[in-house]
Amino acid sequence: MVDVNEGHEADFLAVAREFSAVLARKEYGRADIVRDEASPMRFYAVRHWASADAAELCHADVEIQVLTARLFKIARVTHVVNGVQRSNSLRLLTDDRRGTPQADRRTGFDRRRHDHGRPEGDRRKTADRRLGPRRLRDRPGEINLIDAARRARENADAAFSHFKVGAALETGDGTVFTGCNVENATYGLTICAERVAMFKALSEGHRVFTQIAIVADTDAPTPPCGACRQILWEFGGNLSVVLANLTTEKGTHELKDLLPLPFDARLL
Ligand code: THU
Repeated sequence: MVDVNEGHEADFLAVAREFSAVLARKEYGRADIVRDEASPMRFYAVRHWASADAAELCHADVEIQVLTARLFKIARVTHVVNGVQRSNSLRLLTDDRRGTPQADRRTGFDRRRHDHGRPEGDRRKTADRRLGPRRLRDRPGEINLIDAARRARENADAAFSHFKVGAALETGDGTVFTGCNVENATYGLTICAERVAMFKALSEGHRVFTQIAIVADTDAPTPPCGACRQILWEFGGNLSVVLANLTTEKGTHELKDLLPLPFDARLL
């Protein structure tokens, strides 16, 4: 979804034409632009890829990246992230315990009983980091989890606190579900961004989760509240929790460190 800045429609249409031409010339697929009749500066850019490989090649193509950079200067682009999946499921390495599908995460809790990590217990760093879900945000052309949370935050309905929060939750297969906080006049019915993202994912049938990004417009990072920690833990296990504000990434925590003595189904 492309919201073109006032006065830049002609530039946008020129970029869109060039984009289509590159797609056709390099046989990546084709692109359609559909104007939103109710909102004249909003367009839907629909891509029809020749194949999953073609889509990946296109994302990595420098010519396309230059066009995308031009587009970002004249429009706000919102990826319709729900349902977008990593095309190559092999990127989920089987030794990543967080990516192992389980029928129901609340039965068994295997990944918390056994430590499948490195004997040293350290998280891998930079070059030594294994490929897997956490690399998603580093790959150009793929969904950036923090940016997805920032975009979701713009939809927050925070009429009472004026404190807008966005979240983006990545599932084991790379699908990203976003959420924002939605407040209520009775206050108590307010729901946080993190739980919205999680409930959206659960209601679409996802049960395996890898990481969540949380964004607020504050200098100090906004960690999930107690209720959200509980829900994230019960359904997502030891997620990586990435905190950021509108401009800067503020660090990553493991959920087990944020909820050190959890109550969960093992204790029932
Ligand atoms: N909020 C979130 O959505 N997530 C958090 O991690 C912290 C708090 C919301 C709830 C409420 O709408 C507002 O922020 C102020 O507490």
